[in-house]
Amino acid sequence: MNKNIVCIGAGYIGGPTMAVIAKMNPDRKVLVVDINAKRIEEWNSADYNLPIYEPGLVDVVKETRGKNLFFSTDIKSAVQECDIIFVGVNTPTKMFGRGAGRASDLQYWEATAREIKEYALGDKIIIEKSTLPVRTAAAMDAILNDHARYNFTVLSNPEFLAEGTAIKDLLEPDRVLIGGPQTPAGHDAIEEAVEIYSAWVDREKILTTNVWSAELTKLAANAFLAQRVSSINAIAGLCEATGADVDEVARVIGADKRIGPKFLKAGPGFGGSCFKKDVLNLVYLCETFGLHTAAEYWMGVIEMNDHQQERIVSRLFREMFNTLANKKITLFGFAFKADTGDTRETPAGKVARLLAEEHVRLTITDPKALNNAQRDLADLDGIVYESDEYKAAELSDAIILMTDWRHYPTLDWQKIYDSMRKPALVYDTRNCLDANELRKIGFKVLNIGK
Ligand code: NAD
Ligand code: UGA
Repeated sequence: MNKNIVCIGAGYIGGPTMAVIAKMNPDRKVLVVDINAKRIEEWNSADYNLPIYEPGLVDVVKETRGKNLFFSTDIKSAVQECDIIFVGVNTPTKMFGRGAGRASDLQYWEATAREIKEYALGDKIIIEKSTLPVRTAAAMDAILNDHARYNFTVLSNPEFLAEGTAIKDLLEPDRVLIGGPQTPAGHDAIEEAVEIYSAWVDREKILTTNVWSAELTKLAANAFLAQRVSSINAIAGLCEATGADVDEVARVIGADKRIGPKFLKAGPGFGGSCFKKDVLNLVYLCETFGLHTAAEYWMGVIEMNDHQQERIVSRLFREMFNTLANKKITLFGFAFKADTGDTRETPAGKVARLLAEEHVRLTITDPKALNNAQRDLADLDGIVYESDEYKAAELSDAIILMTDWRHYPTLDWQKIYDSMRKPALVYDTRNCLDANELRKIGFKVLNIGK
């Protein structure tokens, strides 16, 4: 009989991942539990006003919720009812004590391990879904199996989905990674996890490794992706200084099969909850193991990224006659990328703060992230939040396009131009608008890497 599954943590990872597992395993019961009652209420809302926005997510939840997918705050019953326990709680960067600003804060993870041990009434397979430092499974194993009445086997099954394409990534993954102890019990547990995914993923795409390789692979994969973004942004600065065009350079670099075209888009820098956190975690691990040169190498990826937003504001400052005070500047987009309302580590947040320091009159518009923007910038007075792009742009001196929302190129830019103060400037930090068209209308246009 197929075993029931629970996921502890109903966030960006737990919710969509379990919804897809439930959809593709209709004969398994899938529970998702969280300590945050409001979040669970939203997952259960009658009008499907879910706590996160992801294209296609509502359809999957409509298909499964109440049939074999259930959201609740009753962690104890869920742990008792299910033999397979995914843990997808948050692992933010630790902001205190040892490793502050670098290491992962594992307090939520450890609390979960202790809860599982306290409530369990039988053997369990525990699957790490959160991104964790290498050897976390050893700590979990030690907590769970110390004087335990039951056997707990800890696997690592990191998630590679990207926000905005979560459902597609889950349904058609490049690969699924399952790491486990190289023992008979470990191999059995790995097979249980493989069975869940083989309901829809080709067996050859399900890669199994030892548990430490799986934990480290997740950090390494994010670090490689982040490094590509920082590399192309480093080239973008040089393009601006020399007259080269970063999109042309990226196109040609990416045509080399050994390099490939993805993650070579210059922009305002990477945001999101994971790249910075995971690279910092890698830096911390390198330092912990005395690999200082490797630590510095990865730290450079973060430093380059932080520098990108400062560069954007410095260039704007120069182009707007070295004074921004009292000018109206409107940010088009606040989410860290298109198709998500998520604003964690968004480059727009840093740009907004740098502009606020210059006493800019700031307006922010975004189709999905305005509430989060308002929460993130609650300490700054006087910012206007406006969902209508045309109203947001009225009487602005400049627009900075921060997020590549698909509809931005299709807006009526003539109408926007007419309503702005002149000279009207557009700074397209995603290079997604037609700069020639904008110039024809009369805009002064700035791009990244051009
Ligand atoms: P999140 O903050 O959206 O969700 C985490 C949830 O865990 C929260 O709802 C929180 O209330 C809950 N939680 C915390 N402690 C708990 C406990 N003791 N019992 C029950 N619930 C508890 O975070 P997220 O974005 O889903 O990320 C979770 C993990 O997944 C992180 O390690 C992250 O690195 C990793 N990850 C995230 C993504 C992504 O796209 N967001 C992608 C891959 C991996
Ligand atoms: C990233 C990884 O792509 C996922 O594989 C991983 O599972 C996830 O982190 C995670 O661990 O949380 P995500 O952060 O959701 O996913 O989004 P990405 O599409 O990777 O974009 C990250 C940031 O890089 C965004 O701010 C995006 O605008 C920026 N980016 C991306 C660029 O500036 N240029 C590019 O070419 C690509």
